[in-house]
Amino acid sequence: MNTWNVSIGYHELTKHHFQRYSPGPDGLDWNNQPAPFRRYADAPFTPLELPDLDEPERTTPAPFDIGFVARLFYDSLAISAWKQAGESRWALRVNPSSGNLHPTEAYLLCGGLQVLGGRPGLFHYAPDEHGLERRGGFSDANWQPLISGFPPGVFFIGLSSIPWREAWKYGERAFRYCNHDVGHALAALGISAARLGWRVRLLNGFKSSTIAQLLGLPALPQIADEHPDCLLAITPQSLESAPVTVPDAQFQLREPVKWIGTPNRLSEETVDWPEIAETFGSIWEAPPALDQGAATKASPALRHYARSLLRQRRSAVAMDGETPLAAARFYDLLRTLMPEHAPFDMFPWTPRVHLALFIHRVEGLKPGLYCLPRRPEILPSLQKAFRADFTWATPPACPGDVPLRQLLSAQCDEAARVISCNQFIASDGCFSLGMLAEFEPVLAQFGPAAYPRLFWECGFIGQLLYLEAERAGMRGTGIGCFFDDAMHQILGLQDRQFQSLYHFTIGGPVEDARITTLPAYERRGTRN
Ligand SMILES: Cc1cc2nc3c(=O)[nH]c(=O)nc-3n(C[C@H](O)[C@H](O)[C@H](O)COP(=O)(O)O)c2cc1C
Repeated sequence: MNTWNVSIGYHELTKHHFQRYSPGPDGLDWNNQPAPFRRYADAPFTPLELPDLDEPERTTPAPFDIGFVARLFYDSLAISAWKQAGESRWALRVNPSSGNLHPTEAYLLCGGLQVLGGRPGLFHYAPDEHGLERRGGFSDANWQPLISGFPPGVFFIGLSSIPWREAWKYGERAFRYCNHDVGHALAALGISAARLGWRVRLLNGFKSSTIAQLLGLPALPQIADEHPDCLLAITPQSLESAPVTVPDAQFQLREPVKWIGTPNRLSEETVDWPEIAETFGSIWEAPPALDQGAATKASPALRHYARSLLRQRRSAVAMDGETPLAAARFYDLLRTLMPEHAPFDMFPWTPRVHLALFIHRVEGLKPGLYCLPRRPEILPSLQKAFRADFTWATPPACPGDVPLRQLLSAQCDEAARVISCNQFIASDGCFSLGMLAEFEPVLAQFGPAAYPRLFWECGFIGQLLYLEAERAGMRGTGIGCFFDDAMHQILGLQDRQFQSLYHFTIGGPVEDARITTLPAYERRGTRN
């Protein structure tokens, strides 16, 4: 069997259908809930600065130093608030996560920062305390090949996922959610780096097994272990001449690293969901795929988000069913999702994800079903794959640089709700949408490593949707629970050329007054 067929098999198995959901646990075993924070016992810990909320934005690129590393994480993966309802207390983060379970872990791989020991090394980011845990030092023999070809001052961020955190609640579908979350984290890091004037590139070319080695992760991960996802190169310099595809050999360690610290155990027991392991296994030694695209183009338009906006991002738990979105805001929001806008320039591949929108309350637009192809060449394929009676009309006041097309005019709030596992957030907002990935042909061409990457692109779009919702005075929510093939049927899709991988909704939120908000961090002398 082709290894990409493992991804297809996993994808089919983990679809939600009206008559059966994807395989998952019968209930939630609260005594066995995985710990939300990874910590490495005995690893030296360095707390990071907690910057002011209203710090002015930089006009020149920040140098690489510990204060700016603190800001990079604070504005992307840190805790943004604690919430309390009765006896329950939980942390929210700048990046969202399905079920607030946060499977994503982040690592900093960098050259000698004095405060971190002066030598190149690997550090685990601990969001619970906003600090770095030192996992190990890299000798020159290990470090020099890594940075070869990159501008001076380059450093790397590695991401990994702990599937068990998601699988505890969602069973087999958890692999999808882990990868949505990677996409959200990538966008959060890209946006935070852009605030510092730093350039970011998602690196391609080496295997998962190589990333595992670099990040000090287990070679044959079990469901409760960390699975390597990706590496980002970040630098205050231009990345135009840096490699997009790094040969696997360049990132292989030359000498063994003595890792420091023992990872905490997340649960007393774990439940195995074998299809997740099999899907990860199919990717483990696969050369990471997807073509080179966006990263080679010139510096795109950059939208900067204020720190306060990044940290106020939340998911709506209910929408009010009445607040409309102004057309100009809506088009501005869609423009931000087009690949020529930063931080999409971090992706080394051609955009593969397009939007199918259920519009309910956008001023000047008739309620109905719409499509936003995110690159022009895909339009004929979408037109051929979708229902023959769709009109593909450009809405009357649509700006020339937003390729929105109307497919049909109809009240579609009920369809949107039903498709999203009957969640009212999908019908009671201004609009909701499905992210349609170019699917089977992409997997056939690029192999199984393309599968998680399509979810990363979706999560990335989702993060921008969250922030654009906040900018518009609205609120967004990612929707991982949807009936896959029912969505495909609405569009008339007959095969797996396109698949909907993630849904999203934006609207006027209804707040839950019973929940109180507490500061993200309380250190001596600070509360923020
Ligand atoms: C991939 C993904 C899927 C999600 N799916 C749903 C969903 O189906 N329904 C829902 O109400 N919220 C969903 N959410 C929202 C999460 O529950 C929310 O992000 C989490 O509780 C953390 O809260 P916050 O976003 O306010 O930080 C999803 C979020 C993500 C990132």
